[in-house]
Amino acid sequence: MRKKIVAGNWKMNNDLAETEMFLVELKKQVFPENVVLMLAPPFTNLNHAFKSLREHNVEIAAQNMHQSNDGAFTGEISAKMLKSVGAKTVIVGHSERRAIFNEDNAVLAEKVNTALENEMTIIFCIGEELEDRKKENHFKLVKTQLEEGLFHVSNDSWESIIIAYEPVWAIGTGETASPEQAQEMHKFIRKTIAENYSKAIAEKVSILYGGSVKPDNAAEIFGQDDVDGGLIGGASLQVDSFMKIVNSF
Ligand code: PGA
Repeated sequence: MRKKIVAGNWKMNNDLAETEMFLVELKKQVFPENVVLMLAPPFTNLNHAFKSLREHNVEIAAQNMHQSNDGAFTGEISAKMLKSVGAKTVIVGHSERRAIFNEDNAVLAEKVNTALENEMTIIFCIGEELEDRKKENHFKLVKTQLEEGLFHVSNDSWESIIIAYEPVWAIGTGETASPEQAQEMHKFIRKTIAENYSKAIAEKVSILYGGSVKPDNAAEIFGQDDVDGGLIGGASLQVDSFMKIVNSF
């Protein structure tokens, strides 16, 4: 059985006081046993969230990290630092990192290596822009993102890898991929992993969908065979909508 996962990506939202308000409310909730919950607050709130949720079965993830272990990189955060404040998982290759901060597949491959060396779990994000889909180039693009960013890892490393398929045109836009479009791409991703590694590895890896997942569309998307959960942006900022999504399996 593949792990079902719902991860909240807060992006650059919620200061410490707002984080605390969210956590107080979250801790009143009952969490389903069959779903792994993750929360990715900004760096400044990771340790607070970790300590606050220690007894509550919610894993803490970082939204990004630097590919080097240490050094003269003003403003950057290392894997070791993340682990020291309780984040054992890191999101790598979010489309905002790719597009706004110019992170290409080569840099992402380095980040993957550094995260693995530091025994972190990776949520590796892939997904096409609207232009790619219009040109029907989306499968090829996603395959290249996998090949250049991820497919250098060893068989064993797949234990620590989660994939998030996030079509860029659906992020923060209110427009979601249809359940059929999501399933089609998730199936393709799993097939591509099987071809490059093995069927057994492909069957075990959790593939999350991201892009305007909301309480009213989550169940249909999560109901698809190859969709194992979601990476949630906007709807993870309120406990109520986040929990409705968590309870959508
Ligand atoms: P959204 O963001 O749910 O606000 O579309 C998803 C993401 O960027 O991970």
